[in-house]
Amino acid sequence: MSRIVDVNLPGREYEIHIGEGLIDRADTLLAPHLRRKRAAILTDETVAAAHLARLTSVLEGAGIHVDALALPPGEQTKGWPQFSRAVEWLLERKVERGDLVVAFGGGVIGDLAGFAAAVVRRGVRFVQIPTTLLAQVDSSVGGKTGINAPQGKNLIGAFYQPVLVLADIGLLDTLPRRDFLAGYGEVVKYGLLGDADFFGWLEQNGPAVAAGDPAARAHAVQRSCEMKAEIVLRDEKEHGDRALLNLGHTFCHALEAATGYSDRLLHGEGVAVGCALAFDLSARLGLCPQEDPSRVAAHLRAMGMKTTLSDIPGDLPDADGLLDLMAQDKKVVDGQLRFILARGIGDAFVTADVPRPVVRDLLNEALASR
Ligand code: NAD
Ligand code: GLY
Repeated sequence: MSRIVDVNLPGREYEIHIGEGLIDRADTLLAPHLRRKRAAILTDETVAAAHLARLTSVLEGAGIHVDALALPPGEQTKGWPQFSRAVEWLLERKVERGDLVVAFGGGVIGDLAGFAAAVVRRGVRFVQIPTTLLAQVDSSVGGKTGINAPQGKNLIGAFYQPVLVLADIGLLDTLPRRDFLAGYGEVVKYGLLGDADFFGWLEQNGPAVAAGDPAARAHAVQRSCEMKAEIVLRDEKEHGDRALLNLGHTFCHALEAATGYSDRLLHGEGVAVGCALAFDLSARLGLCPQEDPSRVAAHLRAMGMKTTLSDIPGDLPDADGLLDLMAQDKKVVDGQLRFILARGIGDAFVTADVPRPVVRDLLNEALASR
């Protein structure tokens, strides 16, 4: 049994299927989108080793010709060299506009393959089969595709929607716990930004989600996708409300830059620490009750996640250094930093009205506790 979340973008509607064992039905699920029986799969070597044979055998069993390219795993892949390799590979295979590119992997592969699909022949249709929790709840939905530039993360890309998303929660069983919990940071983000009941549900059921309970996992992925789809419908190109999805990200992006986009801090871990800091900041500014930041931190801590700057190994810049890194954030407008803050759990909003000294004090205190 799978659940379906609709993304009703006019003229580019698509479904997100969520359930266990979906890749065993990939042939029938992909069939309505195939104009000829061919699929070009972009994946990474880790996902390929664990799951590609199963996906390929299902598709080939239905007479669908499969080509697959496995790129090295990791954030380093999301740059020009592997991107041009993928684009040239698709062109060498004479992939046509009517064919399907399949992004089979985490957010790195989803972002890179989606962008490749957007530019090859000015647009080939593509399907997302996300294999990490982060990709199932966030990056495979909503059409942000792209790669990193030497100047910064995600600076080259396109809004390009998939025609279908298959979130097979069974694939998460092989995901290392650290990557799983990083994705859970994005799940918590949805509760914090717009659904207090969902956050309450996570406080009760987060351990079951992490332990692999299929119903709990399916619900967490479904509610996250519903919330993301709803925001993307309101504001596909991020002129307004979509920025809410960046709760915690102003801090996160600075911390990722400070740690060199390395293993010291995974993106979802930075989001969790960033959410905790955003709630701290909101309380300091008198916007939300003092108990809220404690409740956020308590849940992250109970899940065994990174929660504060002291959980990040190695040196970090001082508060002014971190503020300078924040100034590179894509949400900066006319040189003005914008934050996603909260009036309470489940009630986030975007603002540029944050005095720098308050942020500096917050960071100084957080750094001092390291
Ligand atoms: P990732 O794609 O690097 O995957 C993390 C690791 O897990 C990799 O080593 C991968 O090989 C491995 N892996 C993937 N699936 C597996 C499985 N089922 N079993 C075992 N191992 C598996 O990282 P991620 O956390 O999925 O994504 C991070 C990326 O997503 C970042 O580049 C970030 O910028 C991007 N992102 C994009 C959006 C968007 O809206 N487009 C949103 C959030 C994040
Ligand atoms: N992950 C943020 C967005 O999709 O807008």
